This record gives sequence, C-alpha cells and structure tokens, in this order.
Amino acid sequence: MQKYLVTGGAGFIGSNFVHYLLSKRKDCQVVNLDKLTYAGNLENLADLKMEARYQFVKGDIADEACVDQIFKSGIDVVVNFAAETHVDRSIENPTDFIKTDVYGTYVLLEAARRYGVKKFIQISTDEVYGSIEKGSFRETDPLMPRNPYSASKAGADRLAYSYWATYQLPVVITRASNNFGPYQYPEKFISLSVTNLLEGKTIPIYGDGRNVRDWLYVGDHCAAVDFLVDQGKDGEVYNVAGGNEKENIEIAKEMVCYLKGSQDSIQFVKDRLGHDRRYSLNADKLKVLGWKPKSSFLTALHETLDWYQKNEVWWKKIKSGKFKQYYQKQYELR
Ligand SMILES: NC(=O)c1ccc[n+]([C@@H]2O[C@H](COP(=O)([O-])OP(=O)(O)OC[C@H]3O[C@@H](n4cnc5c(N)ncnc54)[C@H](O)[C@@H]3O)[C@@H](O)[C@H]2O)c1
Repeated sequence: MQKYLVTGGAGFIGSNFVHYLLSKRKDCQVVNLDKLTYAGNLENLADLKMEARYQFVKGDIADEACVDQIFKSGIDVVVNFAAETHVDRSIENPTDFIKTDVYGTYVLLEAARRYGVKKFIQISTDEVYGSIEKGSFRETDPLMPRNPYSASKAGADRLAYSYWATYQLPVVITRASNNFGPYQYPEKFISLSVTNLLEGKTIPIYGDGRNVRDWLYVGDHCAAVDFLVDQGKDGEVYNVAGGNEKENIEIAKEMVCYLKGSQDSIQFVKDRLGHDRRYSLNADKLKVLGWKPKSSFLTALHETLDWYQKNEVWWKKIKSGKFKQYYQKQYELR
C-alpha cells in the first residue's frame, strides 16, 4: 500500500487527480492537504466521504508543524499541486503567491527530505518559460517568467530541482500547458466563459483575442502525472502538452457555437498587463518515455461544456458568493 500526500487536492486539477488516483490504483491511500482558499472546494470531493483510503486535512503547506505531522504518519509519494494560481490575482497582490508557491514548496521539500519520501512530484507550469513567438519550448530552455504567478512557480520549480541536485531527493518536475475540464474555478478562461454564456452574460476576451495557449484536458494531465510517479527519472523536468494550440478567440467562438449563443456575446476588453502572447511546449521527452495525451480537443471541450451545463448547482454557488464581488471589481477596472 503506497501512501500519497496530494496537496491542493480540493482545487481543480488536484481534485481530478485524487479521483483518478483512487480509481486507478487500488493499492494506494491518499492524504489531501488543502488550505481551502477561495479556490479550494470540498464539494469537488463530496463522493469520497465514505472512501476509507482517503483522508482530508485542512491546512497550509507553509505551516511546518502541520506538514511535519502528516509526514510523521508515513508518506511515500508527494504530489504538490497546492498553489495560488490566478495570474490576474498575482498582478493585483503577489504576497500569497510567494508564501504558498515558493515558501510552501520549500516546507514540503524539507519535510520530504527529513522523512525520506520515495518520490516528490512538483507540479510546475509552462508559464515559467514565458512567451514564445515561434517554435516550442524544450525542458532545457531558459526560464523567463513575466508575471508574479509564473515567477513564483519558477522559484518553486528550481527549488525542487535543487533538492535533487543537492540532497538527491527523488524529485520530478512537470510543466503542463493550460488545463480545462470539470471542477475548474470559474475565473479561468474556459470555465468563466462557459458559465457566463449559460447565465446569458458576455464573455470577456483580453486584447485582440489572438493570444495562443496549448490546451490540455485535465484527465490527460492526471494520467501524465500518474505515469511520471513510476516512470519519471529523478531530477528531470517533463513538459506535458495537449498538442492543441489555439487562439483565445477561436475557442470563444467554438464555445458560443456549441452552446448556441450569439457571437455578440464575445466582448473584447482591455488587455492584461504584460500578457504573454503565446505559450508552446515541445513534449517529445515525455513521448519518448512512453506517454502522450489521449483526448481529442473538440470532444473534450464539448464534454466539458456539457459538464458545466449539468452541474449548474456547483458553479452557481461559487459565482453567487465572494466571487461576485471580485469579478465585479475586475470588470469595473476594464
Ligand atoms: N490550471 C492550469 O491550467 C495549470 C496548468 C499547469 C500547471 N498548473 C499547476 O497545477 C496546480 C493546480 O492548479 P489548479 O488550476 O488546480 O489550481 P486551483 O487554484 O484550482 O487549486 C489550488 C488549490 O490549492 C489550494 N491551496 C492554495 N494555497 C494553499 C496552501 N498554502 N496550502 C494548501 N493548499 C493551498 C487551494 O485551496 C486549492 O484547492 C498549480 O500548482 C498550478 O500552478 C495549473
């Protein structure tokens, strides 16, 4: 029986990963450590209440005593998803990004070193490379993060690597592209757009809408992380790409079309400060190791839109709470 510590497991990707892990690996136990910030939602995991192999701990990854207590119970594998993740919020106030994404990762790495874990997966992001006009980033390319979110993730990414280089902690780092799928907090592009459309509101598109992102279905991301727990080489970085580079405007049009909305629902708004133009990953390294994504972009996008249609109760509760004030303020700034 392998015991996993999944941090940030009440968030979007983390909760999908906890589900993935418990259904795929019958021989594992999962401790989910989550601070339950605005982005953490236990309703994402409501079906696991009776699952004996699952335990939830409300706590901060930057809290040494709390983290130590968990490691004391015997952890084999750490998967660190916990982070402040929204670029716009990092531009407004970077403090929590440094505390969680950098210092919190340090606290976990220290505990992992003290207790000698078998694998530490650091979930980094493609945003650490910065923007690229042509071609695609490889794992060996320099990091040029351009906003406080991506800079704090780059700090955590390199700190994790340093624990391999210095102490031989078995660290593997993943840099995935933009995820989409069920349970994504409705402030990110696809989850905000679909829920706005379902509410009969417009969808805001930054600048000219021609920023390019590579899109990865969350189920594929979870499968890649699970694969790397066994197959990832210690001290190595792996790009995880969906292979679906799209301009934001193209996705917006597809969402409007699928949900039978009006193309007038697309509203161009003032661009984000320092907005990265294009992200692109070369994922050959992971392919050579034996993994590639399974989902077709359009099918996964349509399934995601169906999920938000069927789960109105889930997102309406979020959108009617604190999110409403935050979003209104953001809107006024535009
Ligand atoms: N969403 C993407 O497109 C994407 C792409 C690549 C990498 N990533 C990375 O994947 C990870 C998860 O992203 P997400 O989109 O699911 O984020 P999310 O914002 O939906 O969830 C983050 C979770 O972390 C928790 N958390 C925050 N601070 C914490 C702390 N100090 N201690 C414990 N828990 C804390 C939150 O409560 C929340 O449950 C992040 O590390 C992010 O950088 C995300």
